[in-house]
Amino acid sequence: MSDDIARARALLRDAATAVVLTGAGISAESGVPTFRGGSGLWGQFRAEDLATPEAFARDPRRVWEWYAWRRTLVAECAPNAAHRALAEWALHRGTVTIVTQNVDGLHARAAREAAGEDDPARALPLEVHGSLFRDKCSGCGTRSDPVPVDATSVSTLPRCPRCGALLRPDVVWFGEMLDQHVLAAADGAAATADVCLVIGTSALVYPAASLPLRTRAHGGVVIEVNPEATALTRAAEISIRGAAAAVVPQLLNEG
Ligand code: OAD
Repeated sequence: MSDDIARARALLRDAATAVVLTGAGISAESGVPTFRGGSGLWGQFRAEDLATPEAFARDPRRVWEWYAWRRTLVAECAPNAAHRALAEWALHRGTVTIVTQNVDGLHARAAREAAGEDDPARALPLEVHGSLFRDKCSGCGTRSDPVPVDATSVSTLPRCPRCGALLRPDVVWFGEMLDQHVLAAADGAAATADVCLVIGTSALVYPAASLPLRTRAHGGVVIEVNPEATALTRAAEISIRGAAAAVVPQLLNEG
């Protein structure tokens, strides 16, 4: 075990409270594409055509087609060893807040699997960018379970049973505000945590990227797990260069 991993393990073990911030990199080994870098989604697709309110107003069929593809892709993926180790740790400790920028639902799946018959609540993440697996009405804002999407034409797209407006995926698009209750809960956890463990994010998208800085500002420690240096690396007390599924279990598992 490297010195950095041993130091990080001790800090995490001794922390009274911890916050975990995850990004697309934690799901990379599950087969979910990241956004930036060589094979990232934003290298293949234009965000302004697919992930803005203006794009949805212009061409909702195309936007839904892309999100339906992502739903199918993610549904075929499973939580990996990093999601599982985090879920076990959060259930066991009870003083851990998992904050994710991911919309893939893999933390929640790992939490339910780890909890079995017990309540998974302690390991459920705050999903600051929403969820691929929830719909929201583009008119009245009502959230609902996802319905099957037929993106053949605008007339076949799903509509709100209350007001008749088009449903959309309940994810945060560029230019939109995050859910303020979810963000406030994440910010409160980060501002009081002894340790912030940051896994698999380029730390380029705000306000999520500011959460580790909140922990640091009040005297907490930031630990980063990422194969590459990021915008956050200089602010991290310990930066572990490695893949999440290999490193995270080593940080959190007992023994
Ligand atoms: P990015 O695609 O920007 O960054 C992914 C990070 O994961 C990079 O720093 C990689 O080095 C790292 N990474 C890759 N493989 C890894 C592995 N096996 N283990 C650990 N880390 C690995 O994704 P995010 O930072 O999550 O927003 O992007 C933030 C937001 O930008 C997303 O939530 C999304 C996107 O636009 C919205 O859709 C609102």
